[in-house]
Amino acid sequence: MTEAQRTLVLIKPDAVARGLVGTILERYERKSLRIVALELRTIDAALSDAHYAEHLERAFYPDLRDFITSGPLVALVLEGDQAVEAVRGLNGATDGRKAAPGTIRGDWALSNQLNLVHGSDSPESAAREIALWFPSLASGPGGQ
Ligand code: PPS
Repeated sequence: MTEAQRTLVLIKPDAVARGLVGTILERYERKSLRIVALELRTIDAALSDAHYAEHLERAFYPDLRDFITSGPLVALVLEGDQAVEAVRGLNGATDGRKAAPGTIRGDWALSNQLNLVHGSDSPESAAREIALWFPSLASGPGGQ
């Protein structure tokens, strides 16, 4: 028996600027992940700091914050069996230079910052991130 799981995805400002939103969404949809929420928005530093709370002290974080707040991104919630793991598989390794061909980053990214997409790294992170980005979904399937 399968249980629906939800995960948060960001299609980052580099992907929006490059016109890759439709192409990336198609990868997720063709995997049979269901879009349950989707929004185009430009975020402020406060939301960046909350989303990347565990990275605030990292040397790269100021650059990452500048980037993620630099223009519109698409935030979405995807649902499906083992959605967290499925999305991370489709996204590929963080560094696009090392990501496997056939993954989103492996096919279209050459950077660990301009890497097109974000996916929650665990069901616990997904629950926290969905509550942050889409408060109205905070108590969805799987206790998320
Ligand atoms: S971790 O915790 O060390 O495994 O971090 P990682 O998952 O590799 O990366 C977390 C997010 O930080 C971004 N990142 C960077 N941004 C700018 N410069 C550098 N050097 C850098 N390294 C990592 C990376 O894109 C991750 O973003 P998200 O949105 O979580 O995918």
